[in-house]
Parts: sequence; structure tokens; C-alpha cells
Amino acid sequence: MTFEQYTLFAWGWIAVAVIVFIALLFITAPYGRHTKTTWGPLIDNKLGWFVMEFFVLAVLFFFLYKGTNTISLVNGIIVGFFALHYVNRSIIFPLRIQTNGKKMPLTITLMAMCFNLVNGFLIGYYLGEFVVYPVEWLLTPQFIIGTLIFAVGMFINWQSDNTLIHLRKPGETGYKIPQKGLFRYVSCPNLLGEVVEWAGFAILTWSLPGLAFFVWTFANLVPRAVSHHKWYQEKFPDYPKERKAVFPFIW
Ligand SMILES: NC(=O)c1ccc[n+]([C@@H]2O[C@H](COP(=O)([O-])OP(=O)(O)OC[C@H]3O[C@@H](n4cnc5c(N)ncnc54)[C@H](OP(=O)(O)O)[C@@H]3O)[C@@H](O)[C@H]2O)c1
Repeated sequence: MTFEQYTLFAWGWIAVAVIVFIALLFITAPYGRHTKTTWGPLIDNKLGWFVMEFFVLAVLFFFLYKGTNTISLVNGIIVGFFALHYVNRSIIFPLRIQTNGKKMPLTITLMAMCFNLVNGFLIGYYLGEFVVYPVEWLLTPQFIIGTLIFAVGMFINWQSDNTLIHLRKPGETGYKIPQKGLFRYVSCPNLLGEVVEWAGFAILTWSLPGLAFFVWTFANLVPRAVSHHKWYQEKFPDYPKERKAVFPFIW
């Protein structure tokens, strides 16, 4: 694939994300609290998380391995940031969540794998074939500012996931109103943290696949946060009125 073909494909993929964003404002993806039995066969929730999220790492490493570039220090650091997030999401997160006996539609796992296939390809192919970041990149404003934003986003994401996980005692599967930290301002700081994280990644790589990954994360997670927020308001009559869905004081 030439760089021109790759660029065209990546912009097309970003355009698809915009359509998906609009669609997800009307259709709620049926997993977690929104799980439905009308979306076909179900699989174990934890297994679903592992399969769909580990897949992106496998795809990324496949294209890095197949690529002609040698892995530079900076390319290695960028891959390391990505892998840090996805080792947590695919292995540590499913082992920690209290969702024993819960299921998710296989369709969701397969759809997420398609999303991860393209995104893993875009990042892996870019680093494996097109760009070797020089060591001087580490001192650019893009890398320094992007890395700070990435780290802040990851901290918010992990801390908020942790708060949610600890709302349940072992064996419990119901829901409570989270009250700690950024939950005072928004219903879904974990999703906010993830959006911030990938904005940081887009800045620190200053790249088209980084931008595509951010746009796709935004398109998936902002509508999901809006759905979670509506769900909380319907389920809990005493839900805090001032709390927003995902962006404090805004939305
Ligand atoms: N990059 C992407 O496109 C993408 C897409 C999806 C998710 N993610 C990430 O994956 C993580 C999980 O996403 P999610 O939307 O599934 O998060 P979530 O609905 O907030 O759930 C996270 C975990 O906490 C439990 N939980 C949530 N609210 C609770 C409450 N009020 N009381 C008790 N337990 C509660 C959930 O249990 P149940 O499963 O039983 O509801 C689940 O185990 C997030 O960090 C998100 O950023 C990323």
C-alpha cells in the first residue's frame, strides 16, 4: 500500500466514525448495563472484553512485525504507551470487574474486533512502514504535551474504573450511584478519561492514525456516556441534578 492509498483509507475511516457517532446517539450499544438478548447469541462478559480488546494488540504487533522499519526508541515508546492501555483493558480490567454470570452479545465482540482490526492496522502499518520517529521527537512540544495529556487521561480512566469496580462487594451485580472524585461532575469520568487519553496520543504521535483513533474513541464513548447518564437518571430518582454525562458543566 502506498502512503497516498493509506492516507485516503485513513480519512475514509475517519468519515465512517462521524456517521457511527451520529448513529450511536440514537442506538445504544447493548453491552454492560444496556445488554439485550435481541442482538443474537451471548458470550461471557469477561471473555468478550478479553477477545475484543486483546485483538487490537495482536493486529498492531502483526503489522509492526511484517513492516520493513526497524523499531526506533521513540516508535517503541509509542507502542509501549498503546500496549500499556490495552494490557490493562484486555487482561487486568476483565479480571477485576464484578460481573460474574453477566453476558454480552457476540455481535458486539465481533463489531469491536472489526473496529480494532482497522485501528490496529492503521497504527501498526504507519509505524512499521512509513515513519521512524527520531530520538529528537522526545523533546518536541507535541510529544511532551501529548504525553502529559495521555497520562492525565489514563489516570482519570483507571481511577474512575477503579471507583466503579469497588462499588460492588464480591458476588454483587447491581448498580449504585458513584459519588467519588470526578463522578461529582459527570456520570462517566472513565469514558471522559479515555477520550482525553487518546487525544493525548494523537498529539504525541502528531499522526493521521493517532487522529483516527481519537475520533473513533470519541464517536464510541461520548454517545455511550450519554446513554449511561440517561439510564442513571431513569433508574435513580435521587440522581444528582447538576451532574453532566461526560464533559463537566457542558454535556
Ligand atoms: N476505546 C473504546 O472505544 C472503548 C469502548 C468501550 C469501553 N471502553 C472502556 O472500557 C471501560 C468500560 O466501559 P463501559 O462503558 O463498559 O463502562 P461502565 O459501564 O462504566 O462499566 C465499567 C464497570 O463498572 C461496573 N459499573 C458501572 N457502573 C456501575 C454502578 N453504578 N454500580 C456498580 N457497578 C458499576 C460495570 O458493570 P456492568 O458491566 O455490570 O454494567 C463494569 O463492570 C471504560 O474504561 C471505557 O473507557 C473503551
